[in-house]
Amino acid sequence: APLDIDPAAFDAGEHASYMLKEILEQPDSAERVLRGRLVERFGTAHLGGLNLDARETRAISRVKILGCGSAYYVGQMGASLIEELARIPADAEAASEFRYRNPIIEPDTLYVAVSQSGETVDTLLAVQEIRRKGGRVIGLVNVVGSAIARECDGGIYLHAGPEVAVASTKALTTMFLGFSLLALQLGRVRDLSIADGRRLIEGLQRIPDHIRQILGHDDEYATIAKQLAEAESLFFVGRVRGYPVAREGAQKFKEISYRHAEAYQTSELKHGPLALIEASVPTVAIVPDDELADRNVAALHEIAARGGPLVVVTHATVDLGDLTATRIDVPACERELDPILLTLPLQLLAYHAALHLGHDIDKPRNLAKSVTVE
Ligand code: AGP
Repeated sequence: APLDIDPAAFDAGEHASYMLKEILEQPDSAERVLRGRLVERFGTAHLGGLNLDARETRAISRVKILGCGSAYYVGQMGASLIEELARIPADAEAASEFRYRNPIIEPDTLYVAVSQSGETVDTLLAVQEIRRKGGRVIGLVNVVGSAIARECDGGIYLHAGPEVAVASTKALTTMFLGFSLLALQLGRVRDLSIADGRRLIEGLQRIPDHIRQILGHDDEYATIAKQLAEAESLFFVGRVRGYPVAREGAQKFKEISYRHAEAYQTSELKHGPLALIEASVPTVAIVPDDELADRNVAALHEIAARGGPLVVVTHATVDLGDLTATRIDVPACERELDPILLTLPLQLLAYHAALHLGHDIDKPRNLAKSVTVE
């Protein structure tokens, strides 16, 4: 049976819902996951619970991340961080699919299980399958002493605090930061320079303030969300680092607003879904200020030309030219860390859309906080 968390056991305080409370707690939970784990002197992270020494770390030839739902999407963000910072081939896969394809377990692969509850049965069974075949698994888990945490060879606790709302928010921020710490530590044992390590540490230290700044624009997001809530169907698009952000944005939106929200790679639109774009189908586009910004904007013109309303989550430095769009600017930070800041307005868009539609924010229909059945 689904694990029952009794919301009465926790206190939403003055907030209308646990989800809002948990969204607003993110500056604090971000500080907690980083606390005591940044080593400025050596430009690295200290993650004692990994149980990996330098020699073992250098022997890792691949990283495979496993999680379900939003944890899987943050896993995709984590895979990019590990590839960029540690230059180890990395990818994420839905834990619910993994064991059904008789996966090849390699001794030099580091497996990473990511889970808020630590009780998601699909992720737990994937971990057990890997360990049965001799693989090494570390966990990025929030709930201390949970089944997944106990099953892993080592790991990083996320310290997000109890998360009650079915739609996960603060746990995801800490997962992303947990992956940043892991990538930093792996990177510094390999080829990441001390200067780059320190640059990233400074970037991480600024994240809680950036989050505060984004949350301060809540009124703006509420207005945009009410318009999006009117649509029966929406697209969320992004590419490379922005794609898992789009997936997470669509996930949150569909979970609590019950609207059809589909994530797509911006580059793939012209290969099919463009046929669905019309005035009644809005697109939320993720356009960070990176080497793909111009290409992204060009693709958005294709949407605008077909009358599709656009909300662009971007940086102030991105020039949208004459594109007809509502823009949401997030603060600039170290590029590798962009995904987490780009995700935050999407949480609030989903929250306000669901609120506007009068849905039960914390307990959306058909869903459980923790999926403990196959
Ligand atoms: C997130 O908003 C969802 N409720 C869901 O996708 C969740 O992330 C997934 O079920 C995994 O849960 P876990 O992190 O507890 O393993």
